[in-house]
Amino acid sequence: MKRIFASLLLAATLAFPAAADEGMWLLPLLESMNIDIMAAEGCRLTAEQIYSVNHSSLKDAIVQFDNGCTAEMISKKGLLITNHHCGYSRIQELSTPEHNYLRDGFWAVKRSQELPCPGLTVKFLHRLIDVTDEVRAAEERDIAFEYIEEGILAKYGKDFDYEQQQIVSFYNDNVYYLISYIEYRDVRLVGTPPAAVGKFGGETDNWMWPRHTGDFSMFRIYADKKGAPADYSAKNVPLRPKQHLKVSLKGVKENDFAMVMGYPGSTERFMTAVQLEDMEAKQDVTIAARVLREGIMWEAMCADPTVQLQYADKFASSSNYRKNFQGMKQSFKKLDIINRARAKEAAFMDWVAEDPARVEKYGTAIGQIAENTKAAAQVSHDFTVAYESLWNTELPMTLSFGFANAYMEALQETSSREKAAEAGLKAYDKAYKDYNEALDRKETVALLGFYRDNQNPELLPQLDSLAEGFDTFATMDLQAYTDYLFEKSIFTSREKLEKSLESEEFLGTLFTDPAFKLALTAYQQAFTLYSQMMMFEEAGKEANKAYTAGQLEWMAGQPSYPDANFTMRLSYGQVLPYSPKDGLVYNYFTTSDGILEKENPDDPEFIVPAKLKELILKKDFGRYADPADGKLHVCFLTNNDITGGNSGSPVMDGDGNLIGLAFDGNWEAMSSDVLFEPELQRCICVDIRYVLFCIDKLGGAGSLLKEMTLVK
Ligand code: ARG
Repeated sequence: MKRIFASLLLAATLAFPAAADEGMWLLPLLESMNIDIMAAEGCRLTAEQIYSVNHSSLKDAIVQFDNGCTAEMISKKGLLITNHHCGYSRIQELSTPEHNYLRDGFWAVKRSQELPCPGLTVKFLHRLIDVTDEVRAAEERDIAFEYIEEGILAKYGKDFDYEQQQIVSFYNDNVYYLISYIEYRDVRLVGTPPAAVGKFGGETDNWMWPRHTGDFSMFRIYADKKGAPADYSAKNVPLRPKQHLKVSLKGVKENDFAMVMGYPGSTERFMTAVQLEDMEAKQDVTIAARVLREGIMWEAMCADPTVQLQYADKFASSSNYRKNFQGMKQSFKKLDIINRARAKEAAFMDWVAEDPARVEKYGTAIGQIAENTKAAAQVSHDFTVAYESLWNTELPMTLSFGFANAYMEALQETSSREKAAEAGLKAYDKAYKDYNEALDRKETVALLGFYRDNQNPELLPQLDSLAEGFDTFATMDLQAYTDYLFEKSIFTSREKLEKSLESEEFLGTLFTDPAFKLALTAYQQAFTLYSQMMMFEEAGKEANKAYTAGQLEWMAGQPSYPDANFTMRLSYGQVLPYSPKDGLVYNYFTTSDGILEKENPDDPEFIVPAKLKELILKKDFGRYADPADGKLHVCFLTNNDITGGNSGSPVMDGDGNLIGLAFDGNWEAMSSDVLFEPELQRCICVDIRYVLFCIDKLGGAGSLLKEMTLVK
């Protein structure tokens, strides 16, 4: 009997195959475009409960974290959760060989133990207003954009003097919104698992499934007594957010409804084939430069735990998108992305040709984009080479240029040499904490070599005569030049720098310092190239706008969403497995069994902390075990449409309860920023039950769960 019932259910789910849930939807349009489909798929919230202009709604629980990630409020007392890789640089910054929170994890069970994170900010979305008509009307009167913006912001005014407003373009300048945020700047680290949990699998597993990573960390927002943003102060109190998410202990099953809200950073789904080819070419440069630099970093990191801590964040930042670009290259080929873009353009042009009015508006757009892209190609190649090589030399850029920047800025502001020196040294110390000279010497020789081999030969003479005896960059001995830099520069140690600062002639010394001279030249070159690139971008705007407008008209009547631009979006879909290739199906979840399968004490990426191993072996999962199989589920998959920036986003059930955190995309669909692949593209999420297990059982910080609203 039971069996028949089960197969009837199965038949029912097969009769309603999972919809192709592509889309990073705009919140104000949910009501008109999405909510009916969402309800049919299992969402039990109204559009108004998710996003409301007049009342607090789910969106008030979702925040921008550290200008690049998403986080969500999970208590009435300012507690938020995001990914471990989103908190990574802050955790690394707070860590020292003596207090290595990155390696060992950290839990503040009392408020007084929480660690302030200078510079870390969290932003709440305050207002979202469609101002397209106003921008258009002003454009027709030929008003420059900055004045249009000024006028519109003045018209709408501010609810708080600390409200941060901006006008943001969508659909390549076809739609504009006024968006405002409230930014909090006293944000403290509450807890993180050890990197062996938060980054388990390292770069080997990054962008891949099956996954076993506990990718989460927790922070608390503080405000002044009125709830307004304030600089760090011991007097500040935990922020009381308008909304926080309830946390579900129920777990997920295949085909369950799942939605993600957050801040996808950027996608390119309206690009032409020529633009895509150009993007690939630039990525090739980036890949090559990063492979070279990462090799040098990795070797030194493996040899010395101090270097491992110092370079952890630099390495991860480099390798994350290097690997993404490599995957994208494979997917471009395998999924025939460029030809599909061409076919789409041809179909578009057929549609255009049907009507003279369309020809008038859109007929030349694709051709103009191609022309402009080709005209810009050399400049953008040159910029990428300079940026990926010269900019990553540390003695010149990080130490000397970083110092000089802070010094000059403070000098301008205060006109005091002492204050300037103080500011400069502060920047220097911060950079020096994560600096290893032997590694940098190798890096510098290698990156200068990369630059010389790959840069436009016309630009090489700009690096001539930067040091005595080294006249022609194109032919000089780069090892000798590097040795010279390290021997002569005042930036190799704080003592040398301090001593130079004592002299009246300091500015003279600075501008003749060989490392600073190289940095200044690198900066000037990159700045010039960047400005040229921006001019090409400006020149291409009209054509891009027209092509996007044409695509919208072509697809009129169908729900549509603009490219990601780090504004809040919602994506919905289901918990789903996928088939990476013929004959193979990937399950939609992983369990702690896989952690032990992957364990390798000889590989720093696959070390399992002793306590975690013990808990797993004893099956001591408590209430976090899955009721169906008794196992500890670690990660799961959905077909939610996300991209970088969504990291840390809440994955929610049909009631808006937190079931997981989105943290990655899958290897087989690395071209997803350009084209959504319904059969292949998955969002990789950490199961919230594993997160709670790590806080409670592994971290011994179960008291934090008392703040949360748990749903059983
Ligand atoms: N690929 C993830 C993203 O960009 C980051 C994962 C971080 N983990 C790592 N092993 N690098 O969102």
